[in-house]
Amino acid sequence: MSALTHFLKWQLGLARAETQTTPAERETLSTYAAGKRRVVEIGVWHGVTTCRLRAALAADGVLYAVDPFPLGRLGVSLQRLIAHPEVRSVRNGAVEWIRTTGVAAASALAPVLAGIVDLVFIDGDHSYDGLKGDWEAWSPLVAPGGLVAVHDSRSTPSRPIEDAGSVRFTRECIVADTRFEVCREIDSLTVLRKKLTLDTGEARQAARSLRGCLFRHGVDS
Ligand SMILES: C[S@@+](CC[C@H](N)C(=O)[O-])C[C@H]1O[C@@H](n2cnc3c(N)ncnc32)[C@H](O)[C@@H]1O
Repeated sequence: MSALTHFLKWQLGLARAETQTTPAERETLSTYAAGKRRVVEIGVWHGVTTCRLRAALAADGVLYAVDPFPLGRLGVSLQRLIAHPEVRSVRNGAVEWIRTTGVAAASALAPVLAGIVDLVFIDGDHSYDGLKGDWEAWSPLVAPGGLVAVHDSRSTPSRPIEDAGSVRFTRECIVADTRFEVCREIDSLTVLRKKLTLDTGEARQAARSLRGCLFRHGVDS
């Protein structure tokens, strides 16, 4: 079904907003977002997971919904036209729409969010360099004890995506990042918690592993 056909059917109530997440992944996102005050989603599409995150966060919480929503052939983003009313229908907390990439959003929001983000859900650019950019931009902004959830970060028998850039970057760099520890793996979702404190050895090891990762992939430090 084309995006336009889907949009028209959605307007008539004959089609639903779409997502590639599984019910178990959405349930896990809801669980980890419960009661949180500063939640970020990178990659909104039709807003299915955005709705789940909004419904779960604290009543005085803010959800930063980040997506560039590129214009389609008709000169509009049909995804945005679906996402906004879907997310508006959830009455909880507040939503700030940030219409840009995850990396640009992190630079813009760093002055207000540095070190206080409770949960970042990364589901935007799934290429190796795309996830690398989001990880490097957002992981420093997460509060000690805060969470990062990464979609399409693991291959599963029902979704064999072993060679996807996002799976490779997760395997090579994210799960090896000593600032974080994996707390949940479900379907293609990995959830990591930022350690409360880094001792000197861990801080050195984190710097070493990041340098090693950048070196392996040809980036000058
Ligand atoms: C897989 S969809 C997100 C699905 C949504 N999280 C859900 O399951 O309901 C990916 C979205 O990421 C957006 N996107 C692509 N590159 C991006 C980037 N660099 N930063 C933020 N979002 C990006 C696309 O426009 C698209 O809407």
